[in-house]
Amino acid sequence: MTNKNNKEKLKKQGAGTQLRVVIVGHVDHGKSTLIGRLLYDTDSLPEGKYEELQAICKRRGTDALEWSFVLDAFQAERDQAITIDTTQIWFSTAQRDYVIIDAPGHREFLKNMVSGAAAADAAILVVDATEGVREQTKRHAYILHLLGMRQIAVVVNKMDVAGHDPEVFESVSRQVNEYLDSIGLSAMHIVPISARNGDMIAGRDEHMDWYKGKTLIEVLDSFELSSPPIARPLRFPVQDVYRYNERRIIVGRVETGILRKGDRLMFSPDNEEAEVTSIEVWPQDDAKVEARAGESIGITLDERIFVERGHIGSHVKNPPMLSNVFRSNIFWLSQKPLKVGNSYKVRYGTHEAMVTVQSIDKVIDTNDLGEVEKAGEVGKNAVAEITLRARELLPVDPYGDNARLGRLVMYENYDIAGGGTISMEGYPDQRASAKPKSENIYAVNYLVNRDMRAARNGHHGGVFWFTGLSGAGKSTLAMAVEKALFEKGYHTYVLDGDNVRHGLNVDLGFSPEDRAENIRRVGEVAALQADAGLIVVSAFISPYRADRDKARKAAPAHFHEIYVSADLATCEKRDPKGLYKKARAGKIAEFTGIDSPYEAPENPELVVDTQANDIETCVEQIIGYVESQVKLKDTATVAAKREKALAV
Ligand code: ADX
Repeated sequence: MTNKNNKEKLKKQGAGTQLRVVIVGHVDHGKSTLIGRLLYDTDSLPEGKYEELQAICKRRGTDALEWSFVLDAFQAERDQAITIDTTQIWFSTAQRDYVIIDAPGHREFLKNMVSGAAAADAAILVVDATEGVREQTKRHAYILHLLGMRQIAVVVNKMDVAGHDPEVFESVSRQVNEYLDSIGLSAMHIVPISARNGDMIAGRDEHMDWYKGKTLIEVLDSFELSSPPIARPLRFPVQDVYRYNERRIIVGRVETGILRKGDRLMFSPDNEEAEVTSIEVWPQDDAKVEARAGESIGITLDERIFVERGHIGSHVKNPPMLSNVFRSNIFWLSQKPLKVGNSYKVRYGTHEAMVTVQSIDKVIDTNDLGEVEKAGEVGKNAVAEITLRARELLPVDPYGDNARLGRLVMYENYDIAGGGTISMEGYPDQRASAKPKSENIYAVNYLVNRDMRAARNGHHGGVFWFTGLSGAGKSTLAMAVEKALFEKGYHTYVLDGDNVRHGLNVDLGFSPEDRAENIRRVGEVAALQADAGLIVVSAFISPYRADRDKARKAAPAHFHEIYVSADLATCEKRDPKGLYKKARAGKIAEFTGIDSPYEAPENPELVVDTQANDIETCVEQIIGYVESQVKLKDTATVAAKREKALAV
């Protein structure tokens, strides 16, 4: 095929019919040469380029054609921003059309690759036969792994320089396979090539008749186009809301799944529901009753619910998760290291939010895949597992559930600083329905109020919520505090994790969801007890801030968060129940601090350091605090109020 209007032609055919390829590999291993050669061998060079190339090579005094000059020429045009798209190069085989996403050497190569804007269907990893696997080979492969790339071809390049030696090919192949294997990737094909000579690219080569596999073009032609994500749950991110002749049209693109007229949709994060009354397209089509992944549409709803840009429409049965905290496997690109406490703008799907780095959980050296010990920050080109926190609830789809929406890009002043995938591992969905399940229920007013109870008891009620790692001393302190308060004449009661899990919460385990439910129930019980006038001391790990915040909301007037603090190493050394030992031995899964997160309070009312102080000191500290909080402020006023209350 001649290339005259190749690009236009391909563009007209639209996405979905072209296979998107990304070419990666260590510097100087031959990426540019390979691209030049691919274009030439598939007759996809723009008109006049070949002659231009010959002339350049002659001028520079090289005998053989330097195929990478093709890219140099493209680059020059790009710099002048004339004809060539800034990041994409097209070619076609007899079978189909291809687009190479982002040419190597392009400054933003990794950024584009990571951003997911350059989501490719397949990747070619170029490895120099004479050098084998090098640092960038590993780094790029790791990014492919992070991005969930499945279709990977490895080319062992410069086989001509390696004397077309099958043993060299074998040994490099083994090396590549070993690395890919160690990060959970596998190459579908490994092809020995010489990009410079065009061996095993489109044509075969007599020097390598020992190789019986496919040529690179045959390999590419055997790759599959990513199937449109129709089978996934519906995600309809709202781009805008228009008012049009009294009608409100909600506009967006169906990212995954299928949206049908008559469907009942839920919009996250507000959880408002309504039914789709029409699907609007242009030109108008009254028969339009269904829109599939990839279609940009407008919809109208049967109710005027609150929907705005950024909300995500889904079916009621299968909404995204809601959370203000999630984890991310990221690749960091910025010169400025990522640090705990730093805030960044993140974008995933069409959603944007500000997040703060809550913790850096692991930093991985892509070279040896080892964990970087005690890494306090993530430097340029490092891979890390981090936990991010937002101020508000965000709709999230973990990468494992939805590869399209589960990728995220982090920005630093409008510049891409990193990117990766979203995970909810260790964290529960916070989509607890705020509305009661039952209808026809009405709150009844008490005739005895809190002040009357306080007056009779001689002190206020309150929730004193202990949180901390297992082994930090919560139960020990709670029981001692209860005893001391009791002896002083206070009305008090302890709610303890291990105890409650034998009764009220006998049905709950330690999954993130179960822990959230554990704390929800206990928070409600504690609030009721405090309302009844008791000084409630609760001792639960309660690892999630969001759950503790909910417990606070249940008892807003008298909730006190007390952080029982001791670091993991100390708790593990104490190991009163031998559980840390079991957890380390893999006999308990999802153990807090080991393979399940603990989020220390940010602004607790009181911190009790059990590492630095003995139990008596801690008990005294807590009693002092509790008494200051439950004491009747002004007995006279209370008595007066009591009179008044009794007189009603
Ligand atoms: S919470 O996370 O849901 O708040 P809770 O305080 O009720 O936990 O229970 C914690 C106690 O359960 C621990 O002190 C420990 O004795 C026991 N336990 C058993 N399995 C686990 C686990 N996987 N993680 C933490 N604690 C566990």
